[in-house]
Amino acid sequence: MERLLFIKSIEGRVLAGITMFVGMMILIGWVAINEEARMQAFVRQHTGRSIERGAELFASLCSECHGEEGYGADERAPGLNNPHLFGYDPVGLQTAAITNANRALVRLNKDIESLSNEMIDPENPPSEERQNEILAEIADLETQINEQQLAIEAAVAQRIEILGALSQAVENGLFPLWDTVVDSDRTADNEVEVFFNNNGTRLAQVGWAGDLRGYIITTLIHGRPGSARVYPSSTGMAAWSQTAGGPLRQDEIEDLAEYILNWDKGSAWTTEDFGAVAQYGKPLADGSLPTGPQPEKVGDDVLGILARWEADEIVGSPTSGELLYDARFGCTDCHRNGASAPDTVGTLARIQNERLAEARFAGYTVEQYIVESITRPGDYVVDGYSSGLMPDNFGDRMTDQQLADIVSYIMTQ
Ligand code: HEC
Ligand code: HEC
Repeated sequence: MERLLFIKSIEGRVLAGITMFVGMMILIGWVAINEEARMQAFVRQHTGRSIERGAELFASLCSECHGEEGYGADERAPGLNNPHLFGYDPVGLQTAAITNANRALVRLNKDIESLSNEMIDPENPPSEERQNEILAEIADLETQINEQQLAIEAAVAQRIEILGALSQAVENGLFPLWDTVVDSDRTADNEVEVFFNNNGTRLAQVGWAGDLRGYIITTLIHGRPGSARVYPSSTGMAAWSQTAGGPLRQDEIEDLAEYILNWDKGSAWTTEDFGAVAQYGKPLADGSLPTGPQPEKVGDDVLGILARWEADEIVGSPTSGELLYDARFGCTDCHRNGASAPDTVGTLARIQNERLAEARFAGYTVEQYIVESITRPGDYVVDGYSSGLMPDNFGDRMTDQQLADIVSYIMTQ
């Protein structure tokens, strides 16, 4: 302010004051604008350096098993540079197109129905003029229905084509449970449906409810005890964190995660990318499930389970149920051909005609009997078998959807 005294006139001082004020605002604005850009550049550089450090660690510690480019190696380790791991759905567009077309069809058919009702309404018969109008409108709606049906056919054909292009990936284990889907369940029409409904993403396959970063970091920290059994050419995925007796610090683990996540191509993955993966992830060896957020398990409160299904509109899929019954939970090991448990075939008739005829099951539905048999096998033991043979912890291992799928499969037997 001292300097202002040298400016003689009042006007001169006011002008100088304004000039200084404007100058300061420009300066503050300039700093503010650039601060944002500087922060972004800093974060980019930071992430960039983290990825670089991760790349070095990966090349020296991980590439031996997971491959230099992260494609994995046959029976040694799963690919990480892998669209399935990143949850990319190769037929997502087609599936969305089919869903939209089906919605449109429901709407169009409703419109036709109400026009037809108007046409034949005995209370209020339409005039001849209106009748002609209705017929023209219906003809127009039918053309639209035709278009939607063609759209569905095209999308279904595209999905079949895409699945065909994925055959190398399937051979490399893209869908580990595929072979256990019974042939008769795979028709040309539903093959793609069955495939993608049952395959899901890697995270869904292992039942991980958190995000991919958490999955990678947890896997790195704790390793996968028992994975050498599942990958015969490997000594298995070790625990890498110093907290679990491994060599890596937490920041190094995060650098590695950053490097792996940098492989994500978002919606730009191609069928070639699927083909490049040398080994896809397998269902985890029992007891080697990653620790972390897991979906809620079904438990063993039979009536509570059934009420929840009703309230949440949980409906089972027999196709998935069969996979779970055969491969995931190994029910078939005991139940096939009555190996060491009541035969799978004929279960439904047996329940309807024999079990539910017993006084103790008065008021039971078939569903309730099956849910109880699976979640509380000790409550009732089938004649001729001793108690304790069937594992009693399935309620702790299955989600509602999985149990509903299995029940709906058993209802077809
Ligand atoms: C000795 C071989 C070997 C080495 C070395 C190795 N891994 Fe693994 N890794 C495996 C195996 C085998 C699995 C599969 C475990 C399973 O599915 O249970 C695996 C699984 C993973 C997974 C989970 C993938 C999935 O789809 O479930 C990640 C992530 C991973 N490893 C990252 C790394 C990183 C990062 C390194 C280096 C620090 C590394 N691995 C070093 C063998 C190895
Ligand atoms: C280790 C062998 C074993 C396994 C594995 C097994 N069960 Fe059983 N299961 C039995 C035996 C034994 C019985 C008959 C004795 C009893 O009621 O507990 C039985 C009974 C049943 C019944 C009642 C059948 C009837 O005729 O009343 C159902 C339903 C059933 N199991 C479903 C399953 C499902 C679903 C799985 C997999 C999630 C499974 N079981 C896994 C041994 C097994």
